[in-house]
Amino acid sequence: MDVKTVRIRAGNGYTVTVGGGLLPSFGALLKEAAGPCRVAVVTDTNVEGLYLEPVRAVLETAGFEVCTFVFPAGEGSKNVNTLSGILEFLAENRLTRADCVTALGGGVVGDVTGFAAGCFLRGVRYVQIPTTLLAAVDSSVGGKTAMDLKAGKNLAGVFHQPSAVLCDTDFLNTLSSETFADGAAEAIKTGVLAGEALFSVFETGDVRSRIPEIVAECVAFKGRIVEADEFDASVRQTLNLGHTVGHAIEVCSGYTVTHGHAVAMGMAVIARASARLGLCERGVAECIIKTLARNGLPVSAPYTLPELADAALSDKKRSGDTISLVIPRRIGDCVLKKTPINELAAIIGAGMEDLPCR
Ligand SMILES: NC(=O)c1ccc[n+]([C@@H]2O[C@H](COP(=O)([O-])OP(=O)(O)OC[C@H]3O[C@@H](n4cnc5c(N)ncnc54)[C@H](O)[C@@H]3O)[C@@H](O)[C@H]2O)c1
Ligand SMILES: [Zn+2]
Repeated sequence: MDVKTVRIRAGNGYTVTVGGGLLPSFGALLKEAAGPCRVAVVTDTNVEGLYLEPVRAVLETAGFEVCTFVFPAGEGSKNVNTLSGILEFLAENRLTRADCVTALGGGVVGDVTGFAAGCFLRGVRYVQIPTTLLAAVDSSVGGKTAMDLKAGKNLAGVFHQPSAVLCDTDFLNTLSSETFADGAAEAIKTGVLAGEALFSVFETGDVRSRIPEIVAECVAFKGRIVEADEFDASVRQTLNLGHTVGHAIEVCSGYTVTHGHAVAMGMAVIARASARLGLCERGVAECIIKTLARNGLPVSAPYTLPELADAALSDKKRSGDTISLVIPRRIGDCVLKKTPINELAAIIGAGMEDLPCR
């Protein structure tokens, strides 16, 4: 078995272990990260039927006492009711700070379970077991936890780094093509930030055959950014490429457009806007848009400019009269651009029109 490990020096430091067929090693890896303890596994209703019993069996065989909590799958569950359900469950099961919470699922399970672990008893350890490509390449690493509020996405959360991330890439074999594409969107985003070596896999390569390598590269890149700026004060904000418009699209759709699809549209919009405003090299926007489309992702937003601009202006990344936009100058070179909010609508507008043939 080819296993890759990436060490992340944030929080207390932790290891991300990635590989096909990793499941039988989960017990040993969890023991390394948390010692003998009780484990509360949190998952959603889809992942429950696929992986809960195999994971429970492996952990019990390794000597862990396991309890489980399952909530309805989907972004609609990333809310205070689910958070409260998890917290009450942890309390009823008398989990202590010597024990460990485990998030088995995609980004929704990871975000809300991480939040619960970050505030239960003022912080208990948690381990991420990502089961979507998006969670594997992005959300399971970095310690951002969240839930959505009525006023917007990810408006409540804590920074709380996991104690380990265990990624069996065989779990990704059961993803629908849409959910796989969601993860590709965040991985392509990472490629635009990191450079050609990663980006070109999505541009021309055989993505499915290179998943463990893609996951390890995305995690290593994100890890370096998180190590440099754990609390999102500077360079970490570049990971929000495509997210200002992406979050606006999620809000406009009432969260029926998934995060990855929304980020793809958001990246296409900001890439086009950058080209129109002369902020990126010739051909960069076309290349990003073509690559998104090649990976089954949408590249235009199904909303009007006033709808998108309105939703984008309520983004929490706005600080006072400016908003930080991430501009892709070329593949491997993105910069933060502080933008007056009264210019945002025009920028989004520039990104919604087709590019002229050049
Ligand atoms: N914390 C972070 O740093 C961070 C980063 C990026 C995204 N996010 C968040 O992640 C969320 C999106 O994550 P997601 O795309 O994983 O969504 P998700 O967790 O809703 O999973 C998508 C769907 O796939 C199902 N599923 C999960 N694993 C499966 C498997 N192996 N086989 C078949 N089906 C499976 C789920 O039940 C769900 O229906 C958003 O809320 C986003 O805001 C967080
Ligand atoms: Zn994202």
